[in-house]
Amino acid sequence: MSPLPIAILGSGKGSNFQAILTAIQAGRLNVRPVLVATDVSGAGILDLAASAGIPTMVISEPKFRTRLSTDVETALAQQLKDAGVELLVLAGYMRLLKSPLLEAFPRRIINIHPSLLPAFPGLEAWKQALEAGVPTAGCTVHFVDGGMDTGEILAQSEVPVLAGDTAASLHARIQVAEHELYPRVLARFADRELP
Ligand code: GRF
Repeated sequence: MSPLPIAILGSGKGSNFQAILTAIQAGRLNVRPVLVATDVSGAGILDLAASAGIPTMVISEPKFRTRLSTDVETALAQQLKDAGVELLVLAGYMRLLKSPLLEAFPRRIINIHPSLLPAFPGLEAWKQALEAGVPTAGCTVHFVDGGMDTGEILAQSEVPVLAGDTAASLHARIQVAEHELYPRVLARFADRELP
């Protein structure tokens, strides 16, 4: 089977993208990243992509902070289509998606979120979990829709909350689980298992 062409959209350091690259390099994941796009110039994910020889793109959005304006998102969707992207992988992308991307890639945009959704959507989910005193936290891979972390759930990993955990220690433990879960779910798309 030919490698599935994917694009990664992120705003941060890109540790999930690195986990995807590691899985590809280890022969565990049959995908081909054709583009890494970010809305944050200088984001760490750009350096990772450049080191791996993957084309990068910085999206300029002067008007809004929590979404892209329609024309910017329409242009992005067209660029992804032109690059042959079949699956859009959000990895720490901090804006909501709107109809240009959602309609261009129906059931082909996924995200990873650091909680057991539907619990604790939104920012700093690990802190929300710690403050709520739950015994178990975790992460979720889900399809993206127009809401905040509301799309259909594809897979989850549980992570224990330990006595003495700080926000930082819990977040680090959740990220270890993310780096195992995301490549595993991506492999289901790569193997063309998902309709
Ligand atoms: C992850 O914790 C992910 O769950 C959330 O944003 C973070 C991205 O981290 N959506 P990284 O840039 O992949 O290191």
